[in-house]
Amino acid sequence: MKLNVRWSCLLCLVLIGIAIEGVQCKVVQFIFGDSLSDVGNNMYLSKSLAQANLPFYGIDFGNGLPNGRFTNGRTVADIIGDSTGLPRPPAFLDPSLTEDVILESGVNYASGGGGILNETGGYFIQKFSLWKQIELFRGTKELITNKLGKQATDKFIGEANFVVALGSNDFINNYLMPVYGDSWKYNDQTFVRYLMETLQNQLLVLHNLGARKLMVFGLGPMGCIPLQRVLSTTGQCQERANKLAISFNKAASQLLAGLDSRLPNASFKFGDAYDVVVVPIGSEACKLLY
Ligand SMILES: *[C@@H]1O[C@H](CO)[C@@H](O)[C@H](O)[C@H]1NC(C)=O
Ligand SMILES: *[C@@H]1O[C@H](CO)[C@@H](O)[C@H](O)[C@H]1NC(C)=O
Repeated sequence: MKLNVRWSCLLCLVLIGIAIEGVQCKVVQFIFGDSLSDVGNNMYLSKSLAQANLPFYGIDFGNGLPNGRFTNGRTVADIIGDSTGLPRPPAFLDPSLTEDVILESGVNYASGGGGILNETGGYFIQKFSLWKQIELFRGTKELITNKLGKQATDKFIGEANFVVALGSNDFINNYLMPVYGDSWKYNDQTFVRYLMETLQNQLLVLHNLGARKLMVFGLGPMGCIPLQRVLSTTGQCQERANKLAISFNKAASQLLAGLDSRLPNASFKFGDAYDVVVVPIGSEACKLLY
């Protein structure tokens, strides 16, 4: 995974080098995600119970005040963007977002508590599910089309990077919680299949809307987040949650391989983030909240 990011970074630098003759090489990102990628959307959702606008969120970022990120420092989306040298797209609900900003850096639709499934995270009252985020992207595309016309918009969107990173909440704030109907309706196997069917439909809608370069990130060891650890008497990782993350990743990797070979002129890839996130307790990633 890390290697991949480095390679594409190198590639982009090479492309920038080639593109000196007035040809623009502006790669923007459209980011779809949950709290791991939220850069402030929930902060503007006043009724949402998934909030990061309190100390000590943000203590290692900018002025050290809470900024809507569910972490002390940068989000996963920030880190990936920074390592590829791409601009950080602002939150969709950021009042300073304009068409010009979108053309310059893209949009981040990620929302803490959001999942692949609409019913995930219902407890948080307000959040953007992946379906909702795709709907918002459809609106963004209309906005850009009004400004640039259809052909230039198709080109702009076709060249943009799409990042999809959701799924943890579908387990942690849905399937693994008995208050949610899905925990009774499905077993481990059928729930992962249901997630994959939904995700496939969502990715096909994005492809239909013009996405041609897309990366889906897999889940980390979600049984090791503090919220899961406190459920075990010893404070150890929850084996079951980690096993579910691994089956999700395996199924998503197969789904993406299938789409990648089936969809013409498109690169739809899976990025396994499981091992990247396994870190010693106390380090930065452990403070991330889903
Ligand atoms: C999910 O929610 C979106 C609105 O955000 C709605 O358009 C869609 O029909 C819903 N899908 C399902 C399967 O409930
Ligand atoms: C794929 O891209 C090439 C070059 O841009 C184009 O000529 C071709 O029509 C595209 N194929 C499809 C199926 O979209």
